[in-house]
Amino acid sequence: MLFRNRFLILLALAALLAFLSLSLQFLHLIPVNPVKEDGLHPKSRKRIMPDPLTEPPAIDPIYEARVYCNVPSITERSMEGHAPHYFKLVSVHALIRHGDRYPLYVIPKTKRPEIDCTLVSSRKPSHPQLEAFVRHMSQGSEAQMDGTLSSLPRYPSHSLCEMGELTQTGVVQHLHNGQLLREIYIKKHKLLPSDWTAKHLYLETTGKSRTLQSGLALLYTFLPDFDWKKINIKHQWSTIFCSGSCDCPMRNHYLEEEQRRQYSLRVKNSFLERTYVDMANIVGIPTRQLRASNPIDSMLCHFCHNVSFPCTKNGCIDIDHFKVIKTHQLEDERDRQEKKLYFWYALLAVHPLLNQTVNRMQRIAEGKKEELFVLYSAHDVTLSPVLSALGITEARFPRFAARLVFELWQDGKKPREHFIRILYNGFDVTFQTSFCREHNRHSSKPMCPLEKFVHFVKRDMFSVFNSTNYYDACHRRSF
Ligand SMILES: *[C@@H]1O[C@H](CO)[C@@H](O)[C@H](O)[C@H]1NC(C)=O
Ligand SMILES: *[C@@H]1O[C@H](CO)[C@@H](O)[C@H](O)[C@H]1NC(C)=O
Ligand SMILES: *[C@@H]1O[C@H](CO)[C@@H](O)[C@H](O)[C@H]1NC(C)=O
Repeated sequence: MLFRNRFLILLALAALLAFLSLSLQFLHLIPVNPVKEDGLHPKSRKRIMPDPLTEPPAIDPIYEARVYCNVPSITERSMEGHAPHYFKLVSVHALIRHGDRYPLYVIPKTKRPEIDCTLVSSRKPSHPQLEAFVRHMSQGSEAQMDGTLSSLPRYPSHSLCEMGELTQTGVVQHLHNGQLLREIYIKKHKLLPSDWTAKHLYLETTGKSRTLQSGLALLYTFLPDFDWKKINIKHQWSTIFCSGSCDCPMRNHYLEEEQRRQYSLRVKNSFLERTYVDMANIVGIPTRQLRASNPIDSMLCHFCHNVSFPCTKNGCIDIDHFKVIKTHQLEDERDRQEKKLYFWYALLAVHPLLNQTVNRMQRIAEGKKEELFVLYSAHDVTLSPVLSALGITEARFPRFAARLVFELWQDGKKPREHFIRILYNGFDVTFQTSFCREHNRHSSKPMCPLEKFVHFVKRDMFSVFNSTNYYDACHRRSF
């Protein structure tokens, strides 16, 4: 009897080992994935490893938080500027999120993180051009900037960061971005003539110091020691860059519905609610007040800067609290994609910005040689709906200093034909867009015809609303 039991146990063990080794073989099939670092869920993973046990792939909140922090490292791959040799790059439109910033909210009754926002080249993370950047910024009084922008500081300088202030990490992130884009677009593809002037650029930023400073940091390494007289920066008051076309009742409607979805998902998560109660007890305030202080924003700052979470006499906020809230955030993003309300909001929210972009591309395709490089310095609430509206559903939520780049190319063999490429954090997402998904990427031209993008923006993006234009989609009540 005893022998028989042992035999069964051995048999079970053998089976387990066989299963494990099989799983390991499967794991070997997964490429060690640099793609994931680029801010996108690797597509291949889903296909290669159908996992019968866990339906959605497990969320790793710590890994995701690190990607979000985007602490500058040397190894960055990018696919910007890749095209067959007979193609000519004719314009580039970059939409960026500002770099790492100090929190916008404080957790009441706790000590706020001590982060130094002065720029010191010996402090990490740093950049070889950081000192030169500061010098150049202090001479920038000749720049032409719209109204309120000229009164903003051109670089961060407080020894204890102010709320929402760009940090040194944030500056360095965009010095990196600008340098990378310079290597590809200026040096390799000669996007701008050597005697470029103000008319070759179009620069626009929201009215926050962190977006202005992020844009300037990127420009500084993109066009080193630029002449301030050639820099003309427009102010955009709307975070979705809707300029003169912001009136859109249906957009507001979908946003309200989306907020209701978000609320109901949150209250369903009893584990999350218990975490908030626990944290509120530690801090010594009502749970409602803690939640209203949006603690994840502050906790992310602690996490990204490797500063320990705050403590009180009742205990400490810790990494487990952080994991629960971050995990919920990631689940919320998933749910948001399934429910479509945000997608509908996004289509209406970003039409004016995409319309502007398409108009500029069309003018350049017609031969105009102005506004060759466009920079919009913006926020997560700008990039996120653009990604959603384009149908790039695999993209992660915009990390600090995220960049979304649209390239316009001219076919050297048929000069009237133009093509676009779209890159998110250096990763080619052209064929993830809803309007180019069907286009054969293995054709001789691995790009998307400009007309496809034009038709999408001018008409097709409204088809889900049974409309053909922005005004109609914004005002028709279909509910
Ligand atoms: C984070 O801080 C801890 C102690 O405060 C230190 O041991 C660790 O090396 C730091 N990590 C990084 C990446 O700076
Ligand atoms: C879109 O661009 C066209 C110019 O081609 C312009 O007439 C129209 O007003 C723009 N629409 C919106 C909503 O921005
Ligand atoms: C569009 O029209 C179809 C068919 O007429 C209808 O089922 C759908 O609900 C409409 N969608 C919207 C958003 O109005």
